[in-house]
Amino acid sequence: MSKRFDFDLLVIGSGISGLTSAITAAENGLRVALISKEHDLQECNTYYAQGGIIARSHEDTPDLLKEDILTAGDGMNYIEAVNLIAEAGPGLVEDFLINKIGVRFSLDETGEIDRTMEAAHSVRRIFHVKDTTGESIEKSLVSYALKTKGIELFTSHIVIDLITNTHNSLDSQQRYKWTKVIGAYIYNEQSNNVDIFFSSCVIIATGGVGNLFLHTSNPRGATGDGIAMAYRIGTEINNAEYIQFHPTILFHRDVDRFLISESLRGEGATLKNKSGEYFMEKYSPELKDLAPRDEVSRAIFREMEITGSHFVFLDTRFMKDIDVKERFPGIYKKCWDAGIDISRESIPVVPAAHYFCGGIKVNLHGATSIPGLYAIGEASCTGIHGANRLASTSLLEGLLFGKRVGDAVPRQITKIPETLKKSIPDWIFPEPEEEFDPILINQDLLNIQTTMWNYAGIIRNRKRLVRALADLNYLSHRIEKFYKQAKITRNIIELRNSVLTATIIVRASYANKISRGCHFIE
Ligand code: SIN
Repeated sequence: MSKRFDFDLLVIGSGISGLTSAITAAENGLRVALISKEHDLQECNTYYAQGGIIARSHEDTPDLLKEDILTAGDGMNYIEAVNLIAEAGPGLVEDFLINKIGVRFSLDETGEIDRTMEAAHSVRRIFHVKDTTGESIEKSLVSYALKTKGIELFTSHIVIDLITNTHNSLDSQQRYKWTKVIGAYIYNEQSNNVDIFFSSCVIIATGGVGNLFLHTSNPRGATGDGIAMAYRIGTEINNAEYIQFHPTILFHRDVDRFLISESLRGEGATLKNKSGEYFMEKYSPELKDLAPRDEVSRAIFREMEITGSHFVFLDTRFMKDIDVKERFPGIYKKCWDAGIDISRESIPVVPAAHYFCGGIKVNLHGATSIPGLYAIGEASCTGIHGANRLASTSLLEGLLFGKRVGDAVPRQITKIPETLKKSIPDWIFPEPEEEFDPILINQDLLNIQTTMWNYAGIIRNRKRLVRALADLNYLSHRIEKFYKQAKITRNIIELRNSVLTATIIVRASYANKISRGCHFIE
């Protein structure tokens, strides 16, 4: 039997956007359930963000920031959303993160907050905490959330599906009403049960999709869960073809998914190919190594093809006046442990899937096309990023929209009628339950990852995308059948979400014949 819970608000995901919305909503008087599929609340994409967050800078203006965001986004951005972040975003870093939450950003030698540089920025405007900005922000937000009255935490809880009146109710009259989200079926990994969480407002803050690709900077949990669960209830998804590949992930036999922050190039590090040639001038004569990410990633990809190599190098010798060990301690240590001394040696790097510029379509208040459902952070598509995201805008977008939605939802809370709640059935477990075979699940996931990497990756063409669709269709049938018969586990829930989100990405990529930003089609 499912346990039944009632909350004013469900927040699914515990990165910067989820925590900001939960804190704000709770301080606005709501009873909030904060759901994380991880055992450790801190385990999310935000934690691994190295570079930083755009904030106020003396040499900056909203117009300049707007221009940089639009240039990186290749003109595909939603202008109103860009205006909003350029005007309201930077100040929020001070008001919310520094003054309220207590994040301590790195200082320069004069005692002012240090501002670093990344690709496609025209001024130094990025606040950072050495090279572990995300970790510091996440830790501060988690400790603040733990002290906030009104937030109840549910870790190791994995959302299976959102509940709507029209799809889930056993009352036939509900199908004639408009669809509205009223909660979620959530698998509790500890009790092995599936519980029902009722709430008239649900916020999806589940992060990105990097784990659908063979090579990624994202943690393993980035399986596109929010996109899939929203899509299954008919929510509009936007810009799903725009997957950003980060140019520089460490290439090393024993180290997986480790980002080499763009701020190294911001401080002067330079890319060179296997033959020692500095190649970026050839591809972007003006911006060179600080060209937008999509251009740098494609340039690296081409150079790897030309030289027949699996990686290129990042030469750190040009980083003037920088003590790498002090400024980039996380990267220094990781590389040192892998046998590379970055103060003397070049770093082998490759591009990898990094950020989902598309997502669940939302308005300027984070509301989706389905009443009661909101999306924020990487899972959402506000239109700020257009066809390609400007570095260090993602933490800011998560913060801004987390705050806006946390402020907006109190006005949207309604009472779910008891009769409607009673008409929602308990979770039905299959009988008999098929035992979970990890080899089958791992192989299916690997199939999805290689399909996405090879056919829907940095350089796409229509033939590859057709093949990807066929392969994903076949996998979808098999996975859906298995999901219906198998004992429920986190792996199966994620696999089901992965194959659906991958299919959404490939369909959007096939439908868009125009190369723009990070969707490049031959
Ligand atoms: C980086 O540090 O290079 C990543 C920053 C970002 O993706 O915004």
